[in-house]
Amino acid sequence: MTRPPSQLRLSPATRAAQALRHIDERTGGVTPAIEFSATFARDEDYAPRQRYIYARDGGPTVEHAEAILADLDGAAGTLVFASGMAALVALLETLETGDHVAAPLSIYHGALSWLKRLGDRRGIETTFFDATDPRALGAALQPGRTRLVWIESPTNPMWDVIDIAAAAEAAHAAGARLAVDCTVAPPCTTLALALGADFAFHSGTKYLGGHSDLTAGVLSSARADAVWDEIRAVRHLMGSVIAAFEAWLLIRGLRTLYLRYERASASALAIATHLETHRGVARVLYPGLPGHPGHAVAARQMTGGFGGMLSILVAGTEGQARDVARFAQVFIPATSLGGVESLIEHRKAVEGPDSVTPAMLLRLSIGIEDPADLIADLDQALERAGCGV
Ligand SMILES: Cc1ncc(COP(=O)(O)O)c(C=O)c1O
Repeated sequence: MTRPPSQLRLSPATRAAQALRHIDERTGGVTPAIEFSATFARDEDYAPRQRYIYARDGGPTVEHAEAILADLDGAAGTLVFASGMAALVALLETLETGDHVAAPLSIYHGALSWLKRLGDRRGIETTFFDATDPRALGAALQPGRTRLVWIESPTNPMWDVIDIAAAAEAAHAAGARLAVDCTVAPPCTTLALALGADFAFHSGTKYLGGHSDLTAGVLSSARADAVWDEIRAVRHLMGSVIAAFEAWLLIRGLRTLYLRYERASASALAIATHLETHRGVARVLYPGLPGHPGHAVAARQMTGGFGGMLSILVAGTEGQARDVARFAQVFIPATSLGGVESLIEHRKAVEGPDSVTPAMLLRLSIGIEDPADLIADLDQALERAGCGV
């Protein structure tokens, strides 16, 4: 149950903290109950008692998560999937053989792999463009043929910044839709739909869940139109909906999203600033640094902080970069991002042989620990690995 609307204009942080002013109808519980049922009984007229029929379409807990996310994203509709990749594949299923896609070369490697697969297996070609060049998207578009522009901002793991409003304008002028992977810049900092995107995508596994204890994917749409209906049908037929327990974990994570993101952003900025003048570090890639080439655009479209993701190029060899990850005592050497615990990753090793990521790059996901501990840990690991000497 949702309480009647407040007469106060509540901020999204407040709406998220209260799971949309939720109070459980049966018990008064302030935490939503989990509805596990996979099927729903019909009434005496053989009609669904409410709108629920079968859990592959979702159910009350999934819908609650979707309502919160639609509210935060400012969407006409939101669907939650079992993983980020499941949400991406559902969106790409709406494309037809012969359609064309444009995407930056520096994006999440799973998205890159799937786009390449679509080219090889289904005749849906993608033109990959350089995200650091603002004119490159325009050159990659094929007006009338490009159906989808898929971007990420900041891009993973180089953290280049793409101007979402400009990308939306360019995509629409070519007759394409724009989808933005907002995993690293969730709605507490970037509202991609308000900037003109047609779809906002999130790996809910990351900041939205926030505790590294679930996988989830989120797709929010600016319009409830025929394409949106098709995406919903794809989720139903593929069975890629999130399960009730994971949807509940997602709701729980969303309640602290604004707080966690603010803390991670402040710590990441402090760490990036410290590392900028560190002799063991050749380069720091973080859009929150005033010297970052995308800082001005990031400041415009990341209004709630620059996030907890940064990369460093160590002053040393690939082996020394791996050593830094091995010698860390507070950072955990693991993949993923956006959790409460800080992670360190030698990205090239994870991405595989066709990776274009520099060999000296380490990706850091800053959590909510004391930033002084994180700085001390990086200092000792860089020193022990002999970087910069
Ligand atoms: C930016 C980005 N997009 C998409 C994904 C895929 O999400 P998932 O792992 O939830 O399938 C990831 C996962 O690492 C990611 O970092």
